[in-house]
Amino acid sequence: MTMMSPKQIVISVFFFMFMLTASGLLAATPDNLARTPPMGWNSWNNFACNVSDKVVREQADALVSTGMRDAGYLYVVIDDCWQKGRDANGNIQPNEKFPDMKALADYVHSKGLKFGIYSSPGPKTCAGFEGSYKHEEQDVRTYVSWGVDYLKYDWCSATEIYPRSAMPEIYKQMGDLLRESGRPIVYSLCQYGWDGVWRWGASTGGNLWRTTGDIEPNFASIVRIGLGQDGLGRFAGPGHWNDPDMLEVGNGNLTPDENRFHMSLWVLLSAPLIAGNNLTAMKPATLEILTNREVIALDQDPLGQQAQRIHQEGPLTVWVKQLADGSKAVGIFNQGNTPLTATVPFAEIGVANKVKIRDLWEKKDLGEFTDQFTTQVPKHGVFLIKVADSR
Ligand code: GLA
Repeated sequence: MTMMSPKQIVISVFFFMFMLTASGLLAATPDNLARTPPMGWNSWNNFACNVSDKVVREQADALVSTGMRDAGYLYVVIDDCWQKGRDANGNIQPNEKFPDMKALADYVHSKGLKFGIYSSPGPKTCAGFEGSYKHEEQDVRTYVSWGVDYLKYDWCSATEIYPRSAMPEIYKQMGDLLRESGRPIVYSLCQYGWDGVWRWGASTGGNLWRTTGDIEPNFASIVRIGLGQDGLGRFAGPGHWNDPDMLEVGNGNLTPDENRFHMSLWVLLSAPLIAGNNLTAMKPATLEILTNREVIALDQDPLGQQAQRIHQEGPLTVWVKQLADGSKAVGIFNQGNTPLTATVPFAEIGVANKVKIRDLWEKKDLGEFTDQFTTQVPKHGVFLIKVADSR
């Protein structure tokens, strides 16, 4: 028998690893989750604690009947207020509004959707329900037995137990448990963007992490959160995303322009698209905004590169996102109270001096342009285009 030299051994190991990766065996781990920003629906923004088995089933049905599932909204996530307490063995029990969690998860799965749930590393959730403190492993076992595909883990009362500096470690404990559970479970960190979570969120196993406090269904909140995300892009990418919070599209008194502003900014930011409205009672205009395929495609672009702000002029801001096909998405946002004219020089957005432009909300090719592009932007509105080299 001939012995291999150390060099041959190293080469063989590399070759073996390469073959494993190429055959997809390594890629099939849960690490492969959330290659593009997760999309779905969550109960909190509209239902808060008025969530129940019935509500979740109705929303799951609506995801299918409205075409939202087919547009990519897959995760149905129950937020806070589903917990009752623990049984004698310490197993988490849903409250009377959720008579059979496993049956509910089965129902959601039967619709071709995925099932998500919510907990806290503290003893209580933010709304005062039972958290996972000292029951983390047991809770993950329960989630696996129900068929959970997504966990939103909200810091809340953990503040009373742990020092702030323990946050990365505590989040990693849960991240490890999820990974070791044998079930691919998307891991959503929610600690309001404290302590630069974008720098360490991915190292806990997090697939997404909230970068801010809670969003509200008004334009000021959307502007404050959305326009405050610049510079975080370098921390996000396939498998791990900045989360500027769930969508308020269709909630409150947001106008169609404000809804388009919100949606456009979130897709440029490669944000998770978690709808938060009542899907059984939405206006056709809301559905159209949530399901515009060309707009969603910006969010789900395989390159996963978050937009950067390249221009700010009073109430006007311009954000540019590089896309995998070499083209760029450009959003011109007007947060002011009057319509404004904006001019975008191509040199500034880093494209050739001759380009083709497509208006993504109007779903219309605008033709070829040289050197720059000028448009009107409605008040509280956006102009969202795709710009491709036309040479
Ligand atoms: C916190 C989170 C919200 C929601 C509530 C539920 O405020 O940031 O997204 O989950 O808790 O109580």
